[in-house]
Amino acid sequence: MTSLPPISQWLAALLLVVVVSVLPDHVYGNFVHRWSQNDGSRSGEQQPNIVFVLADDYGYNDIGYHGSQIKTPNLDMLAQSGVTLENYYVQPICTPTRSQLMSGRYQIHTGLQHKIISPDQPNGLPLDSPTIASQLQKAGYSTHMVGKWHLGFYKEDYLPWRRGFDTFFGYLNGDEDYYSHKRGYKGKPYLDLHEEGRPVRNATGHYSTHLFTDKAIDLIKRHDPSKPMFLYLAYQAVHGPLEVPKQYEEQYKHIKDKKRRIFAGMVSALDQGVGNLTRALKQANMWKNTVLIFSTDNGGKPEVGGNNYPLRGEKKTLWEGGMHGVGFVAGGRLRPQGQVNRELMHVSDWYPTMLRLAGSKVNVSSLALDGVDQWDTINGGASSPRQTLLHNIDPLWPARGKRHPHYAWDTRVRASLRSGDYKVITGDPGPGRWTKPPGEDATGQQFYANEDSHKNLWLFNIAEDPTEHHDLSAEKPEVVEELLNLLVQFNRTAVPVRYPKPDPNCNPGLHGGVWGSWQ
Ligand SMILES: *[C@@H]1O[C@H](CO)[C@@H](O)[C@H](O)[C@H]1NC(C)=O
Ligand SMILES: *[C@@H]1O[C@H](CO)[C@@H](O)[C@H](O)[C@H]1NC(C)=O
Ligand SMILES: *[C@@H]1O[C@H](CO)[C@@H](O)[C@H](O)[C@H]1NC(C)=O
Ligand SMILES: *[C@@H]1O[C@H](CO)[C@@H](O)[C@H](O)[C@H]1NC(C)=O
Repeated sequence: MTSLPPISQWLAALLLVVVVSVLPDHVYGNFVHRWSQNDGSRSGEQQPNIVFVLADDYGYNDIGYHGSQIKTPNLDMLAQSGVTLENYYVQPICTPTRSQLMSGRYQIHTGLQHKIISPDQPNGLPLDSPTIASQLQKAGYSTHMVGKWHLGFYKEDYLPWRRGFDTFFGYLNGDEDYYSHKRGYKGKPYLDLHEEGRPVRNATGHYSTHLFTDKAIDLIKRHDPSKPMFLYLAYQAVHGPLEVPKQYEEQYKHIKDKKRRIFAGMVSALDQGVGNLTRALKQANMWKNTVLIFSTDNGGKPEVGGNNYPLRGEKKTLWEGGMHGVGFVAGGRLRPQGQVNRELMHVSDWYPTMLRLAGSKVNVSSLALDGVDQWDTINGGASSPRQTLLHNIDPLWPARGKRHPHYAWDTRVRASLRSGDYKVITGDPGPGRWTKPPGEDATGQQFYANEDSHKNLWLFNIAEDPTEHHDLSAEKPEVVEELLNLLVQFNRTAVPVRYPKPDPNCNPGLHGGVWGSWQ
């Protein structure tokens, strides 16, 4: 036995030195950076770039791979190259989904249980919920946001560039015109487009899907490769108003329904934007070290062209059409290719999942998160650590019907929870109809369930009945009881709802004609 290592190890060590010394600076730089983090768990692994693309009001039946009449070749190809999430949930409206993405917490723990933040409301994602951007910033990332914020701006502390984003280019409210970038207040339009604290006045006439894509690509081109990048691209598309450059709409001449036709064009522009973004990441040599996440914020709104068929319900409802989200993961740092993942996942899970990807040193249990790390589920095929998913409890929503006498939970209250394959809904979940997409010559047909308008309790087995046709609440009272008891427990941990009265001082007419902080 010799005490010297075998010659092969000497050669391997020599080769490593040679390889490291010829590596481009940015690759080496990231390795060094990871090592300097030294949290002991993933030393030596390079921190991936994280690109999070959020679409707005993008319905279950609006993406090619769900059999939509709308063509999305770029999104389909990305999903096929990675992992499609088919048991993935978001919240039924904008602010709630964005609040959970940014905080990793359920709405009952941030006070944002009720509706959205309206432009005139002195409200925001509470400052004691640190955003994922601020965590990634601490972990060494350069952090950028492009697009829609919708998490409050009445005080400067709530602005995105004060909450962990190095840069911000976008708008603060929930919706506006795609070309003028203006949003009305008491009938007058005011600019809502900002680059950090400065109003952007020269983008009038530039369609936001192009504007935001170009901005994101510009950030990619200028990215300092010695750092990992976090890019949150929250598109305006495909929220109303129905606006799109003609050439996109013209691809859908065969769809006679005007709303669906324009909407389809808006989706095609979005699809092209994501294609351009992906190309830019490849050209910048960043793709192989990127995890790209694509998600909708909630279900589609048939009134403005979106569609969730065959799911029941739509945006703003607690039916699957409101919350069963379109989502996939792609990028060079993802191991599986072409997988369909049916494990239960939720938008609040991205927070700890991204912390894990970043190798963050933060003490996750001190953050009191509701999300769980899903990276092994997505990248390693493990089963989901999530058994239960609280969709929401909204004590301010008008009560419906009579309280059910057999259960501890007040069934008049709007709430929903998932446990395993079962989902319970109480109170008023919103319109529970099924809307077929408008075909080539018809407008979308709607189908209604034959239900009493005071009904306030439903139980579904979502695995067997994803379209919510068969209410099991009368058949399986023991399952109902179990799920309602979970609601009772969650409700004990809820914080009071933050839903302040409108403040007329928000009026942008009083502040230079631009939306912004007013307190
Ligand atoms: C607006 O002006 C900025 C700064 O000069 C410039 O970088 C940007 O390209 C302009 N944007 C548009 C849409 O013309
Ligand atoms: C994508 O890139 C092409 C080619 O540069 C351009 O014509 C198109 O407008 C871009 N689309 C979007 C949505 O950015
Ligand atoms: C992490 O936070 C939890 C909850 O605040 C605390 O009990 C625990 O001691 C912390 N762990 C470390 C290593 O600081
Ligand atoms: C939820 O908790 C609040 C505060 O403790 C309580 O007032 C309310 O009645 C509870 N709701 C239900 C439906 O049990």
